[in-house]
Amino acid sequence: MRNVKCLLVILSFFMPLVQTLGQRTTSRDATSTRANALLAKMTLEEKIGQLNQLFFLSQLMKPEMMEPGIRDGKIGSLLFVTNPALINRFQKVAVEQSRLKIPLLFGFDVIHGFRTVFPVPLAMASSWDPTMVERAQTIAAREARAVGVRWTFAPMVDIARDPRWGRIVEGAGEDPYLGAKMSAAQVRGFQGSDPSAPGRLLACVKHFAGYGAADGGRDYDSAYLSDAELYNVYLPPFKAAVDAGVGSVMSAYMDLNDVPATGNAFLLNDVLRKQWDFKGFVVSDANSVGDLVTHGFAADKADAAFRALTAGVDMEMTFPLGDVGFAYANSLAKLVNERRLSIEQIDNAVRRILETKLKLGLFENPYVDESAVASNHNNPEHRQLARLAAQRSAVLLRNEGNLLPLTRGDSKISSIAVVGPLADSKRDIRGSWTLADDVKTAVSVVEGIRTKVGPGVKVDYAQGVDIGRAYPSIFDIFSGPRPKPWSEAQQREEFEKALALARSSDLVVLVLGEHEEMSGEGATHSTIDLPGRQRELLEAVSALGKPTVLVLINGRPVDIHWAVNRVPAILEAWHPGSEGGNAIADLIYGDATPGGKLPVTWPRSSGQIPIYYAHNLTQKPETAKDFTSRYWDLPTSPLYPFGYGLSYTTFAYSNLRVSKAQARVGESVEVLVDIENTGRRAGEEVVQLYIHQRSGGAARPVRELKGFERVALASGEKKTVRFTLGKAELTYWSSAVKGWVQEPATFDVWTGGDSTATLTTTFRVVN
Ligand code: BGC
Repeated sequence: MRNVKCLLVILSFFMPLVQTLGQRTTSRDATSTRANALLAKMTLEEKIGQLNQLFFLSQLMKPEMMEPGIRDGKIGSLLFVTNPALINRFQKVAVEQSRLKIPLLFGFDVIHGFRTVFPVPLAMASSWDPTMVERAQTIAAREARAVGVRWTFAPMVDIARDPRWGRIVEGAGEDPYLGAKMSAAQVRGFQGSDPSAPGRLLACVKHFAGYGAADGGRDYDSAYLSDAELYNVYLPPFKAAVDAGVGSVMSAYMDLNDVPATGNAFLLNDVLRKQWDFKGFVVSDANSVGDLVTHGFAADKADAAFRALTAGVDMEMTFPLGDVGFAYANSLAKLVNERRLSIEQIDNAVRRILETKLKLGLFENPYVDESAVASNHNNPEHRQLARLAAQRSAVLLRNEGNLLPLTRGDSKISSIAVVGPLADSKRDIRGSWTLADDVKTAVSVVEGIRTKVGPGVKVDYAQGVDIGRAYPSIFDIFSGPRPKPWSEAQQREEFEKALALARSSDLVVLVLGEHEEMSGEGATHSTIDLPGRQRELLEAVSALGKPTVLVLINGRPVDIHWAVNRVPAILEAWHPGSEGGNAIADLIYGDATPGGKLPVTWPRSSGQIPIYYAHNLTQKPETAKDFTSRYWDLPTSPLYPFGYGLSYTTFAYSNLRVSKAQARVGESVEVLVDIENTGRRAGEEVVQLYIHQRSGGAARPVRELKGFERVALASGEKKTVRFTLGKAELTYWSSAVKGWVQEPATFDVWTGGDSTATLTTTFRVVN
């Protein structure tokens, strides 16, 4: 009887779970029954239509161009339509005039905001605050959904260890652990627990996989990655997105170990579908199916379509102008008729897309309420969160003599010179992929400072130098080209004007960095030098000996080695978004305290690239007396280590301990550390945990991040932070056995405020 009672108690505990799982299975069954019923009615042409996604660029195309194809069921999805009236117009053709009334799926790159622009993803990763990132993407989803967008091509989770690669700005930096946390947080932010719910979007993790490892940082170039690097470094953020329930995946442009990612069955079928059990659908990156021919991989477009579809790409994203695309639309039917492809192969791809459309509720609610857009977009809470996100994403790199924070009303500062090519640029405060906001509403640094200090302080601005740019950007079509470069005479005049202003002011805020389009897709640089004559301006302004704050607005680490011993305060703001200028003013004046940390190792100069903290020990490690694996002309250490960032207060770590000195393989170890705010202001510290496995079947990195927590502490406050090192943290993919292993070994543990943390202990894992 007691046993029966026990059983009942246990059952009542698990019943709700069983019921939920049951409901999920039933709704999954119902969705696939509906998808199959639809499939049974579809002609081959209609099926292929569902696999066809077209760009619609209002700058180049007329709606009439698209409508016949939609009516005939030849288009399954459109991207880049953000006008709600047009979305409804296209959708009406699909659901009221096409034979099977299958709704269109509207996609857009909602990368770091829509109307409200949040900091660029590299910046948001600098917050080390997944909860904030999730909230930011929730707002981004809400604003995009309001116009009828249902699918975002985000998160971009490519690990990047080469800042010459412009797309480093779109991801979370160099580390798989931080990258995985940011990836999952973004998926949760976009999709919530149900991407069909109001205000949510279907997410698309991209670019699968290895895109960030492009040779020389040259965008689209080949990537060569061992399986160990793939599984241990490049894939974890994708796996995290899949585990968080991401509904779609985008294939990458480049070839990975000689096999283009869009035709790579190992990646898409073996890893994604078989090993990870991914149930959503895969979309190609733009025109990357047709590009399989360009790669010298497929013989012709039909062969490209065959190779992409059989490798696991369900939908082809393609540009409707020119002859770059339409590999699926023009060849799949022929391939089926020739029996190179079976109808089941086509059906499998179509089913995944139909199931997604059904799950999104598009059949029930295909239209968007145009009257609700304005109130959604004019929500001051969205701007407040953008300001908070920008504050939390900034990284204080230097603060000699505690120059910062400045004090409002300080009688010594009655005039401020805000100088530099990015100081009053609304466009550049936003960053790459800001295509749907109103640039006029962005707040520049000068504007932010003026508002902050009020009329009592004279705030003047001078551009000083013209950044200039050698190549047009692929985004010019949206933002328009830059004004013509300055003439030599104008350059001299503006430079002198800026110096004169700086000379006559009590304080200089120098704002340097990059134009928004200098990082992002197709924006490769051979060096990370400050572009244009900014270094000259930096040197000339510094020579004046005024109190100077250097604010950086940029999408990648830039070479500031000259400044780090000469300019007293350096604040890395990245491209901080619509509220950037206000947030920077908040930080400079101490209304917010910097707490961000670098998600990338900051090189001293371009010659150190690639550089990352989680490298292996070598035969002559840096600690060896006769250390020779170094440059003759440069230290091997970076300018700033991964995880680095200062605060206006100070923190002390102590009492690092592990719950047990010895654990069995598979068991967890708790790591505890005390952290105290030893300064006079409240502040936030990102407590970081690193480990090193001392021996094993394969050499392991000198340090690996395995835990972090951003902790808020009042002055004098002390807290204990607890981490768990479990199987997931202690397992790695070993190239010795070509599989996942957890090995008995001694592990070093460090905790601290960056990847050079010194507080250390050890524990052992035994069989
Ligand atoms: C980019 C993707 C993007 C797509 C659609 C491509 O060029 O690589 O990241 O999602 O365009 O805009």
